[in-house]
Amino acid sequence: MAYRSISISEFLITMANVIIMGAQWGDEGKGKIVDLLTEQADVVVRFQGGHNAGHTLVVEGKKYVLHLIPSGILHAKLCVIGNGVVLDPSALLQELQELDNHGISITGANFKISPITQLIMPYHRELDVAREKRKGKGKIGTTGRGIGPAYEDKVARRGIRLGDLYNRQIFEAKLQDNLAYHNFMLENFYNAGTFTMETIRDDYLRMADTIAPFVDDVPVILANAMDAGQAVLFEGAQGTMLDVDHGTYPFVTSSSVIAGGACSGAGVGPTRIHQVLGVAKAYTTRVGSGPFPTELTDAVGEHLFKVGQELGASTGRARRCGWFDAVVLRHAARVNGLTGLAITKLDVLDGIPSLKVCVAYNRNGRRLENMPSDPSILDVCEPIYEELPGWSEATSGIERMEDLPKNARDYLAFLESVTGVPTRIVSTGPDRKQTIILDNPFG
Ligand code: GDP
Ligand code: IMO
Ligand code: MG
Repeated sequence: MAYRSISISEFLITMANVIIMGAQWGDEGKGKIVDLLTEQADVVVRFQGGHNAGHTLVVEGKKYVLHLIPSGILHAKLCVIGNGVVLDPSALLQELQELDNHGISITGANFKISPITQLIMPYHRELDVAREKRKGKGKIGTTGRGIGPAYEDKVARRGIRLGDLYNRQIFEAKLQDNLAYHNFMLENFYNAGTFTMETIRDDYLRMADTIAPFVDDVPVILANAMDAGQAVLFEGAQGTMLDVDHGTYPFVTSSSVIAGGACSGAGVGPTRIHQVLGVAKAYTTRVGSGPFPTELTDAVGEHLFKVGQELGASTGRARRCGWFDAVVLRHAARVNGLTGLAITKLDVLDGIPSLKVCVAYNRNGRRLENMPSDPSILDVCEPIYEELPGWSEATSGIERMEDLPKNARDYLAFLESVTGVPTRIVSTGPDRKQTIILDNPFG
């Protein structure tokens, strides 16, 4: 296999404007990969989702968990929140405070938010929780942070945007309208608590003052940066299988997670994107309900959970674990136009004698190579596995492909062959340094 390990700067020469996104069900290690590549980027942008995301970065042994602020902030790069995000101002202020406690200073010079970003309001959180309660067993297992209801208000054309907070009259009128509607639903349909205008208004206006220095015209900032030859990284949240259209609907989040979402969620044309890097674990995890064909409930699943420390970075919930699913990856490659893969957590597979990779599904005797458009079909699908030998050596912290055990290299080569996407990065531990960067084997 003609792999060549290269330096980060050599790698980034081939990249300019890059979307980094989750190729599975979230928590693939996007935060680490964005943090790693930010060294050579000029701007890092969040374009969808909200504080449902939890991106973990480990730098020289110190752990940071970011929810809303792009992972590039640790490099003092310009960090931007685009219009596709749903913003809870109280979550933002809390995160700013936490970063400040770590000695990371954030000012209007290194952090920008689009004024057309939709706001998460307190009634969105209440609705999220009330709705899940009402669904009972059929619940989605949301993060309970008001993400879905905020996106619903956006497309219903009644949402309140960050910029509205700077026009008191408009803000009050919109808030009044929204409360009339949502209080009615909360009280009469969900039998849940209601909200008063004054408390929300005063809270949000107070927070608006603190956020004001960050509000700026994001599409203009990004276009100017790109015109000046700067490199822009788009940091995806969640993962392809949680995309509102292309994921396992309805067990998804409410945003456009896929690469195309970066353009609409930041105000950038698709012609300006050069690379789309998909991040995938060397196995699979998922938090919350919904189909998961390669899920393991045996000792191997327990190994992945324990060794991979698979507890959610946002909600602390246990992540479900299973084998690598190439059907998922081929789907992700297609809908995102992946130009490369970053495979993370290879080290978690150390010591498992035999590894399985799902290459297709068996649906009542019929072989499915592609993700079915109706995800409920997944409930009756059995994974078709190929089995590969594991390795007993530790791969943790290895920085060069040639230092990996042969079986680990063969496993990676197999993933590449069944996904059809070249591997550009292999992560062998949570720290920035525990990474193998590869030349493009496809030339
Ligand atoms: P994200 O949401 O995609 O940014 O991922 P999370 O931060 O939610 O979850 C990934 C977890 O795996 C974090 O705790 C990371 O520190 C950790 N991690 C990332 N890459 C590796 C790796 O290669 N090996 C190990 N053992 N842990 C990793
Ligand atoms: P990062 O960016 C994993 C899941 C929730 C739930 C579904 C809908 O860290 O990869 P929502 O609150 O968004 O309406 O919940 O989506 N989910 C995630 N799972 N990682 C995430 O983010 C997630 N964000 C949402 O568990 O199943
Ligand atoms: Mg996460």
